[in-house]
Amino acid sequence: MLLFSPVLSLLALSVVGQQFTNPVLWEDLADTDVIRVNDTYYLTSSTMHYSPGAPILRSYDLVNWEYISHAVPRLDWGSKYDLTGGQRAYVEGIWASTFNYRKSSRTYYWLGCIRGSNTQIYTAPAAEGPWSRKGTISNCYYDAGLLVDPDTDIMYVAYGNTQLSVAQLSSDGLSQARTQNVFNSPSNIGTLEGSRFYKRNGNYYIFVTKPANGQYVLKASSPWGPYTSKQLLFNIQTPIAGGGIPHQGGLVETQNGVWYYMAFVDSYPGGRIPVLAPITWDSDGFPVIQTVNGGWGASYPYPLPKRVLESPVGTDTFNSTSLSHHWEWNHNPEISKFSVGAGLKLETVTVTNDLYVARNTVSRRILGPASTATIVLDYSGMKQGDRAGLALLRDQSAWIGIKNDSGTFRVIMVNGVAMNSNWSTRSTGSEVSATTVTGGKIWLRASADIRPGSGRQGRFSYSTDGKTFTTFGNALVMNNDWHFFMGYRFAVFNYATTSLGGEVIVEEFTLTAA
Ligand SMILES: *[C@@H]1O[C@H](CO)[C@@H](O)[C@H](O)[C@H]1NC(C)=O
Ligand SMILES: *[C@@H]1O[C@H](CO)[C@@H](O)[C@H](O)[C@H]1NC(C)=O
Ligand SMILES: *[C@@H]1O[C@H](CO)[C@@H](O)[C@H](O)[C@H]1NC(C)=O
Ligand SMILES: *[C@@H]1O[C@H](CO)[C@@H](O)[C@H](O)[C@H]1NC(C)=O
Repeated sequence: MLLFSPVLSLLALSVVGQQFTNPVLWEDLADTDVIRVNDTYYLTSSTMHYSPGAPILRSYDLVNWEYISHAVPRLDWGSKYDLTGGQRAYVEGIWASTFNYRKSSRTYYWLGCIRGSNTQIYTAPAAEGPWSRKGTISNCYYDAGLLVDPDTDIMYVAYGNTQLSVAQLSSDGLSQARTQNVFNSPSNIGTLEGSRFYKRNGNYYIFVTKPANGQYVLKASSPWGPYTSKQLLFNIQTPIAGGGIPHQGGLVETQNGVWYYMAFVDSYPGGRIPVLAPITWDSDGFPVIQTVNGGWGASYPYPLPKRVLESPVGTDTFNSTSLSHHWEWNHNPEISKFSVGAGLKLETVTVTNDLYVARNTVSRRILGPASTATIVLDYSGMKQGDRAGLALLRDQSAWIGIKNDSGTFRVIMVNGVAMNSNWSTRSTGSEVSATTVTGGKIWLRASADIRPGSGRQGRFSYSTDGKTFTTFGNALVMNNDWHFFMGYRFAVFNYATTSLGGEVIVEEFTLTAA
């Protein structure tokens, strides 16, 4: 009996204990849009100045997700997205965008208003790609939601801020056929944005947020209105300790006819974190959130049979022919200056003292509520003046790295790297600690702890044997202001301060989470 009971309880857990916990993904996946194609779910999110942009994740149970592609392979809207010529595009690029699948042409469409500009359309024959840029609409579809009408195959986009509009696209979905204002938010509701667009039982629904603590649903029998509105949630209790109120995001219907709402929670410095809850429909045909003790549940039954997928946690040895879709560059990379296969080789691309203008800095989202990244760095190819290492990157940053000054290699910790509120550089930071190292290879580690009460500490350490780590420098207090929108990332960089020609090899990147 004693021998068998652990086995029995494990079995019982896996059969009966089919509960998932929120957040479903403890990482910065903002402005979430979720769709289903047959029995497969896809999710996309905002990435602003990160490239490639608009990651696509795949799931079979709405809880476990894996990165499979990016809808925007390169931010090809001008040189500022390359971080060249003194230009930068921080907090521009991809904002609340949308995607959907059109059965009739077997095509996936992604579209988004590129900040301050027009609407870009990318398409792919499969969610896995290849994605390519297919069209530009001169209107900005601010905070867009794409509907492919299941009955007519017409494509519509709901968009706008407070004064909401619907556009009908041309039959190929690549240009605008018509657009019309359909709803103006009354003053007692105020700002509404973040549109998603659905059709259910012959009715059209525009799903909008009152940032950042309310969600409304507009319903009409025609896409052009007139729409009636209903509040779905306001100041609902959050399932993330220390986080904001679930809002925005989108709805999805399972193959079993059950609806779910994937919202996100502002949880800076981590970013905007997706949370899931089941939905029912009231007698007026409006959605209702299934709460737990009046709040958004910390846990609910699994929507579908659990299917565990590749976790972001683990070691990347950069042994395939391209970077995995977990990785995004700070602005577009110079592709001739990096390679993967035998580790990640980063050649210097920029001569600068400023991490924020250094090209070919590559990043991974931190994982909440606490995570640690470790790189194994071969620094033997660094030139005089070069700086390479591992940063906690946001508008207030810090890093641990290696420098070669006059032939002596030192490991250094730099803190106080910061931007102004217009995202120009305020400070390139200062060296807190430095110590001489030899041997050409080092382990560099950064930890991010954003648990409530933790003091939001980012800490750094290094090792020369991969076993014993020495805490180094001081802590970065991670900024929890929302204005930068993107959450903190672990970022690997190599830049020159004197002249180009140096290189490093990142042999491994390991991510762990608490
Ligand atoms: C969805 O399922 C149908 C029926 O099995 C199949 O014909 C179709 O190709 C599937 N669509 C996709 C995108 O897999
Ligand atoms: C790449 O590395 C991973 C982890 O070390 C390993 O599991 C995988 O088999 C490797 N793939 C190739 C193509 O060598
Ligand atoms: C480091 O800098 C010195 C110049 O100060 C240079 O001679 C050397 O080649 C650089 N790189 C290495 C690997 O020592
Ligand atoms: C950004 O802000 C800084 C400091 O507030 C100011 O010196 C600089 O001129 C501003 N840059 C732009 C482009 O507005």
